[in-house]
Order: sequence, then structure tokens, then C-alpha cells
Amino acid sequence: MQQDQGQSPISLRKQEGGIAVLLVNNPPVNALSQAVRQGLSDAVTQIESDDDIKGAVLHCEGRTFIAGADIKELGKPPLAPFLPDVIAALDQCSKPLVAALHGTALGGGFEVAMGCHYRVASPSAKVGLPEVRLGIIPGAGGTQRLPRLVGLEKAADIITSCRQVKMEEAAKIGLVDAVLKGDLLKEACAFLESKLAEGETPLSISKRSVPDWDEEALSALEAKVKKRARGQLSPVKALESVHNSANMPFEEGMKAERAMFLELAASDQAAALRHSFFGERIVAKVPGLEDVKARSVENVAIIGAGTMGSGIAVAFADAGYQLTVLEMSREGLERGRDRIAGIYQGAVKRGKMSQEQADAKVASFTFTTDMSDLNNADLVVEAVFEDMQVKKDLLTNLEAVVSQDCILATNTSYLDIDEMASVLKRPDNVIGLHFFSPANIMKLLEIVNTDKTAQDVLATAVAVGKRLRKIAVVAGVCDGFIGNRIWAKNRQLLEFFLEDGASVEEVDKAMLEFGFPMGPYAVFDLSGLDIAWAQRKRKKPLMDAAERYVDIPDRLCEMDRLGLKAGKGWYRYEEGSRKPQPDEEVAKVIAEERERKQCKDLHLTTADIQDRVLAGMINEGFKILQEGIALRPVDIDMVLLNGYGYPVWRGGPMHEADRIGLDRIVAILQDMQSQYGKGWEIAPALKDYAGQGKKVADWGK
Ligand code: 3HC
Repeated sequence: MQQDQGQSPISLRKQEGGIAVLLVNNPPVNALSQAVRQGLSDAVTQIESDDDIKGAVLHCEGRTFIAGADIKELGKPPLAPFLPDVIAALDQCSKPLVAALHGTALGGGFEVAMGCHYRVASPSAKVGLPEVRLGIIPGAGGTQRLPRLVGLEKAADIITSCRQVKMEEAAKIGLVDAVLKGDLLKEACAFLESKLAEGETPLSISKRSVPDWDEEALSALEAKVKKRARGQLSPVKALESVHNSANMPFEEGMKAERAMFLELAASDQAAALRHSFFGERIVAKVPGLEDVKARSVENVAIIGAGTMGSGIAVAFADAGYQLTVLEMSREGLERGRDRIAGIYQGAVKRGKMSQEQADAKVASFTFTTDMSDLNNADLVVEAVFEDMQVKKDLLTNLEAVVSQDCILATNTSYLDIDEMASVLKRPDNVIGLHFFSPANIMKLLEIVNTDKTAQDVLATAVAVGKRLRKIAVVAGVCDGFIGNRIWAKNRQLLEFFLEDGASVEEVDKAMLEFGFPMGPYAVFDLSGLDIAWAQRKRKKPLMDAAERYVDIPDRLCEMDRLGLKAGKGWYRYEEGSRKPQPDEEVAKVIAEERERKQCKDLHLTTADIQDRVLAGMINEGFKILQEGIALRPVDIDMVLLNGYGYPVWRGGPMHEADRIGLDRIVAILQDMQSQYGKGWEIAPALKDYAGQGKKVADWGK
């Protein structure tokens, strides 16, 4: 018998033997929309009141069990019935309920499962409470039920790490009662039948007490979480709520959890993190490619096995591509092979793979010095020295050996790819794939679309980015594309601050407090100051003489202060230590330069430094949008968040622009322009938007 409830995404089907199947059907991920909550609530009432029903299995159609609350509804006034009440009804149901989990039972989805009396799952299912990543805490009992199920430390770890727990661990720690092979629904019904036959009285999780915990281990975890939060509120609040489960009766803990959840859901941080969640998905949708078929890519060749090339090769191999690595010399090739083996060795050390798996991975690569071995490649990525002529020659030689539709990608970080492709017979096969180091770890990939890149080449790059599990953002050709262009401008600004009265330490402190993982000057030291020095030497002759140029970094390089590797850079480093220490010698150089240029002390506060950094990025962002280098403001945000350490809970500069207001950004930029002069003009589009009272979010509408 089937009792469908109109258009409801929930149906209740009674089976032989008094078992009912409660089915959720709300594609794509069965999110807990208002209609789903209402349907579940009605269904529990029906299960309670129907004497024929002895118990029910909650199951979901499609690719996954409920993957959480509907994120689109978060931040808006909540609509009844509220999820905690729906779950309370499940929890208090007098008949046993079994949640049958497949896919990803996340957030509110796993909270629903914890409201049921039993949880069974298919072997490939994963469960978790990733709300913290959205700037909130589990808001429907997750922080109160999970500790009762698995203990305080495990609950705190699962909730603050946002990780998805696989079934092997889930079964071991009691997150699920059984892992069932075969037809999940059939097996879940059989599981319920056996429980009914045993006549077990189900004890809902809310009635259980929190097991004893190890205070020391919990404190250590809490200290780690607080340190890692760097200004993000949700992990810290989640810990507080998990703690409440041990100190408060269930109902009281639930009330406190709900209050924190509602407050956080309405916060700027949660809005920013939702922007990031949807942003990651929006950038993967490139307008104009809807009906374009991607080329098939299986064989990938990487040219150049330096740090970057090796990382790129491992990123592709990890995504299941067949890899060939080409170096010009035997020695270079040996070093490249060692680098790649070293990356896998690191994974063995961290317990991510066995030695045998690492060896098999390295053995799966073809290493060659013979370019004709690339003749069956579908995609070649060059990661050789950043020199236009070197790259042009390489691509010309390459074009002669590869097939007609082999895609030729360059990993250049700033060179003009249009010019690079201009020497080829088929410039339409050329595209930029700009990886970030270490390429097998960093999430960001800039896909650089040239004037001549064929649409299906672009579509292929997007598909490859997805298979690599990267946040792949399409950019146009310009010096630095999206990320490095904004960063270069920012670097200039950081140097101005020094001439204008701030110390290296003050600038770093301001950026750390902004939420960056490290101060920029400490980062420069870590990466080495020589590459940027070489770039400045290359660009200085091309610079407009009217543009302000800060000589301090050049002077430090001339003094062999090349960063951490030299034991001194913007900071000094004790022998064997990576801890940056302020250095009088640097302060002296800065003072001399201020004196020489007669710079005025602007008495910049931490807030001034932060405001200017943000306004500078927004201004360059508008210029990038105007020139069509970025498709949408959100593309810029995703680049900064995923490649440059911009704090994710801020959502990115373009998102922040609307929070702060474009009028205020323009006012900050007016000051900057009057003090910095040439190169710091306000983007006309930004002025227009501010003048018309428009928002960044209106871009393209
Ligand atoms: N709400 C609304 N839409 C959602 C969603 C959700 N919870 N989860 C996914 N979607 C949407 C995505 O935006 C995407 O839409 P699009 O096709 O229009 O771009 C579509 O569903 C498919 O998602 P993905 O492309 O991400 O598909 P994948 O198969 O790669 O991943 C997933 C599936 C693992 C479920 C992933 O989408 C995910 O992690 N979702 C978020 C899970 C989550 O954070 N849940 C907690 C929500 S907050 C909560 O539950 C509060 C509660 O405690 C009260």
C-alpha cells in the first residue's frame, strides 16, 4: 500500500509484517527543505497513530541520504516545522525507527539519523557534521546527541574537523549499528524485523548519558581548534556546545545549542561561508559552455619536473590519469623522479598510503627525455622556466610531435599566453593551467582562456579541473591573471606601508589579525626574496617613471637577505629556527629609505592597514571585472580564498565589499589615491556602482 502525500517529497509505504518505509525524494541531495521537514513530521504522526505499523525504515532516493539542512534557507527566518522539533518527534516515537544511510549523511541529515533509534549504512556511506564550515554549529541536536553516542572527544573532533567519517571507523566507534552489504533498503528492513523479533525496547540517544572522557585529551584538542580558528567563531562555539552536553540536561543543552545556531546563522561569517560554499560550485559553471562537449583526456604529459612540475604530475596521477614526465636531460629526469617519489614518500610517512602503493604509483609514471614519447598525449602541461622564448620554442617543437587535437597547456604564472600561442599552427589548442604550489595539495587552479582558445579546449580544461578536484576558475590573459595580479598590487601596498611609517612586524600583525594564516613578510621570507627580485629587475625598466617604487626589498636582496634560506630577510632567523625575529638592520634600511625619500609618517593603525589592503584588492577586482579578466565577482573571491590564504570566513574581497559598502571603499581609495598617485586610480566601474548605490552582487544583472 502506498500513501503518497500529494506533492510532498516524503512518502510512507507500508509493507508486509508491519514495517513501513519512509522515503525522502528531494533531489539532488535530499536537503531538509521546509517541505521535507513537514513531510517527515506528518509521517511520524502517521506512524504513531497507525496500529498496523510496528516500526519504520527511513530511506532516501537518489545518490545520497539527506545531506543536511537546505543551505539556501539558512540565514533567512526559519520556517516551521523546525528541524529540532521534527527530530524530537522521531526521537520520541514509540516505534523503532531505522535510518538507512547511503552516500553522504551530513549535518541535519545525520542529525535526523541520530534522532532514529538505529542507524544502518551501506559500506560506501559517509557521515559527518560539517556545519562549522558554514559558519554555524549543528543546530538540531548534533552537539548534544553525538557526544552521547561516541563521547566528548570524538564528538568534538568530528564536529570541529568537519570530516566525513567512513564506515570502517563509524562502525568501530558506534556511529552506526550495522554496515550492510547488498540492497540497502531490503537489508535495513530485515535489520528492523530482527530487532522487532527480539522485542528490544529502543533507547533513544537523548535518554543516554555522555560517557566519561579524558579531560587532558579534550583540552589539547580544544587548544588546537582555537588556535586553528584564526578569528572564525563557529569552531569555538561548537566546542562550547559539545561541552554543554556533559554539563546540562539534554533539553537545556538543546536550547543553548539552538540559540547559538540561530545567532551564528544570522552572522556575517556564516553569510561569507555560504557565499564560499555556493561560489565553489558557481565557478565550475562557465557561461557559454553548456552545450560544448569536452575532449577526452586520459594520457597526460608534464614537461619539466621541478617542484611545480612534479606537484602537477602527482595531482594528475592522483586523479587517475596516465602520466608521462619529460625532462631535457637524464640528470634532470632523475631529480624529477626523486622529487615525485619524495612526494609519495611523504604520504607514506603521514600514513596516507603504504610503501607498496607509493612504489606502484611511481612505477606507473613514464619518465622520458625523448619528446616523441609524447605522441599519444591528450594533454601536455609545460612547467618549464618562466621565459617567453623558451616556452615558444618548446611549444613549437611539441606541436610537431603531438596529435592534432592534443591540448597544449602552459603553467606560466604571468606571461602573455596569446603571444606564446601566436607562433603555433593551432593556437586554438593552447590554454593556461596555472597551478599553485604545492600543486598536488593546493585547491586553486586558474584556467587561462586566450583570445584563440577553442571552446571545447576550455570545456576540457574545466572538466579536467573537476576531475583533479580543484576549484578551477576561468581567467583571461593579463599580467598575473586574477590572483597574481591582485597580489602584486597588494605587495606594492605592503611596501608603501613601510615607507609610510609602519614596521614589518606591524604590517604582519595587522594581516594576521585580519585572518591570514601568516604575516605576508614572514611568507616572503619563507618563499625566498630572489624570485620577486628577478621579476622586479625585469619589470622596472617598463614601469611608468611616475609610479611610486619602493627600493627597500631590492636593498635587502643586495645585502644577501634572501629570506629564511639565507637566515635573514625581512626578519632574522636563529640557526636551525624558522621563527621570525625582528631585525635592527631591516629597521635601519627602512629608516634610511624614509629619510632619503622624505616620506611622511601616516601613523597608520592596524585598522587602516587592513582597510587599505581590502580596498586595494576590491579596486583591482573591479578593474579585472571591467576588462573581462574574471567572469564574475565570485570568481575573484574563489581565487583569493583558495590560493592566497584569504580568510574563508570573510568570503573574499568582493563579497566583503557589499558588507562594508562601496561608498566607504571609495572613500578609503580616495585617500590612497591622493597619497600613492599613479597606478592607484579608482576603477571607473567601482565609482559608478558606488554612485548609483549598486552592489557588487548586482554585477552582470
Ligand atoms: N542545501 C542546498 N543545496 C545543496 C546542499 C544543501 N545542504 N548540498 C548540496 N547542495 C546543492 C549544491 O549546491 C549543488 O547544486 P548545483 O548543482 O545547483 O550547483 C548540488 O546540490 C550538488 O552538490 P555538489 O555539486 O556539491 O555535489 P557532490 O556530489 O560533489 O557533493 C555533498 C555532495 C557531499 C552533499 C556536498 O554537496 C556537500 O558537502 N553539501 C553540503 C553538506 C552540508 O554542509 N550539510 C550541512 C548543512 S547545514 C545543516 O545541516 C544545519 C543543521 O545542523 C540544522
